[in-house]
Amino acid sequence: MYKKVITLTEFILKEERNFTGSTGSFTLLLTQIENASKIIASHIKKAGLVDILGQTGQKNAYDEEVQRLDEFSNHLLVDILSESGQAHAIASEELDKPFFIKKHSGNYTVFLDPLDGSSNIDININVGTIFSIYRKSESFLEPGIKQVAAGYIIYGPSVIFVYSCGNGVNGFTLDPSMGSFLLSHPNIRIPKRGSIYSVNEGYFPLFSKKDQDYIGSFKDAIKPYKLRYVGTMVSDVHRTLLKGGVFMYPADSKHSQGKLRLMYEVNPMSFIMQQAGGMAISNGKNPLDIVPSDFTQKVPVVMGSKEEVEKYMEL
Ligand code: AHG
Ligand code: MN
Ligand code: MN
Repeated sequence: MYKKVITLTEFILKEERNFTGSTGSFTLLLTQIENASKIIASHIKKAGLVDILGQTGQKNAYDEEVQRLDEFSNHLLVDILSESGQAHAIASEELDKPFFIKKHSGNYTVFLDPLDGSSNIDININVGTIFSIYRKSESFLEPGIKQVAAGYIIYGPSVIFVYSCGNGVNGFTLDPSMGSFLLSHPNIRIPKRGSIYSVNEGYFPLFSKKDQDYIGSFKDAIKPYKLRYVGTMVSDVHRTLLKGGVFMYPADSKHSQGKLRLMYEVNPMSFIMQQAGGMAISNGKNPLDIVPSDFTQKVPVVMGSKEEVEKYMEL
């Protein structure tokens, strides 16, 4: 029996019809991100074979070793999006400054974490790509609430493309035999509460008393929570989205604003969480309301199921 499967392309086109006056420009932009993700996925599958592992000896804006797959993913995404004719500017975690497109410039600004979870590349643990899309604006840096879309691709046993453009969250799994992403997780809704907490316990002694008490509440619960921590935000957030619970990257005594980047990681993932019925908190407020001070800004974050995040707010 022929079962109609919906491809990501068809889904985006259908969504486009919901936006009056849509020109297909956004659809083309998202499709280019999809195309880039397929190429990155195929390179990651071969990473162990083709010598693209290992350090480049370069450092990025955060003084972190840039792994070659980071560079490859960054170059690929910047090239494809610059050629798409839909991007006005591209800001990438791997670029020291935003890249403004001169020839065939478009109407959107894209913030990218081309390769999230770099430290996991050479031990064959899931990595991802995160994207966040704004309409072109004079101010360039706008609060996350202005995102027109955000999403991520998780390169794992399956390659899954998850995104929202403000009408809920949908997930698509790559069918390698066809090279198409097929709708596999329609209308993702995060459970109201979960049974997993996700934080790097190694830094526990450096956390604030409030964060320590919050983490302690999961261990002392009548039914203690499980701890799951991959160290790739895309994976930890994806699991939290599907299973519920909480993911957090707190500030600590050595990093007053934590490690995660507002524009490249916290805003897109908070947008997704909220679109799926979850919540996110940074420094006591909705991260999407933070007026960015600069594009490398970091913020601590707690995100996940309503019940767990509200518990954090009550502390
Ligand atoms: P990136 O590889 O893009 O720099 O991101 C890594 C981030 C994020 O993916 C993850 O949640 C966090 O680093 C893990 O940090 P710790 O190793 O300090 O826990
Ligand atoms: Mn990252
Ligand atoms: Mn990265």
